[in-house]
Amino acid sequence: MMRGLENKIAIVTGAGQGIGQAIAVRLAQEGAEVVISDINLQSAEQTASRIRQMGRKSLALKADVANFEDVQAMVEKSTQEFGRVDILVNNAGVTKDNLLVRMTQQQWDWVISVNLKGAFNCTKAVVPLMMRNRYGRIINIASVIGLVGNTGQANYAASKAGIIGLTKSAAKELASRGITVNAVAPGYIQTEMTERLPEQAKEAFLKTVPLQRVGLPQDVAGVVAFLASEDASYITGQVINIDGGMVM
Ligand SMILES: NC(=O)c1ccc[n+]([C@@H]2O[C@H](COP(=O)([O-])OP(=O)(O)OC[C@H]3O[C@@H](n4cnc5c(N)ncnc54)[C@H](O)[C@@H]3O)[C@@H](O)[C@H]2O)c1
Repeated sequence: MMRGLENKIAIVTGAGQGIGQAIAVRLAQEGAEVVISDINLQSAEQTASRIRQMGRKSLALKADVANFEDVQAMVEKSTQEFGRVDILVNNAGVTKDNLLVRMTQQQWDWVISVNLKGAFNCTKAVVPLMMRNRYGRIINIASVIGLVGNTGQANYAASKAGIIGLTKSAAKELASRGITVNAVAPGYIQTEMTERLPEQAKEAFLKTVPLQRVGLPQDVAGVVAFLASEDASYITGQVINIDGGMVM
């Protein structure tokens, strides 16, 4: 068990499936009550009912993180139900890959809006509540692609590099209020997002991983739970790679 997660209130965005779902389940296993936020309400309900089966409280809420009004309503409903927000995990993310010369304005704008503005929107909505309680843990899901770039992913890499700048700025602004802000940068994790990659690309990725296996959503969830716990109370503004050694 990790220290200090018992009865904490967490919001995880994009928690209907994949990495977000694993994070929500892990936080619940550690004793937290978790709001499952997703643009897809049906999948959010599935994650929430899985957590309720574990004997913990959970609430599924539909929200598009790119839409500030949606996010504000989601945070209001969360506080109505649970009274406060202690932990925010900005996990919702999308890809729309294309080579730069072919990338459309829409492809650029959509990925930046969901991945980067989405994290800003959710942070902005919860920070006043966290400041009042003089306690908060914000964990942003970046990507190693935000550190090293990738052919065909200029929009995604820019959004994830942006997340890192947001993380460090928010960490500096909010430290005096008892709020820590950190990011994790996963490498190649087995989810629906990476399932779509061509076999050849998957093999090429795997060759760059010293630990010689793909990552699992649980590999990310454990580090996020640690960053949300009391044991990480002296860590802020950091980016932790979870990539089997792909980027050193
Ligand atoms: N899978 C990987 O290898 C990998 C690597 C590095 C980083 N990441 C990041 O991890 C996060 C989760 O990725 P995943 O692999 O679990 O992806 P996924 O596609 O399996 O899940 C993403 C979830 O986000 C939700 N979502 C999409 N748009 C949304 C919106 N506008 N508002 C709210 N929810 C929305 C989806 O409905 C889905 O439930 C993303 O930020 C992704 O960029 C993934």
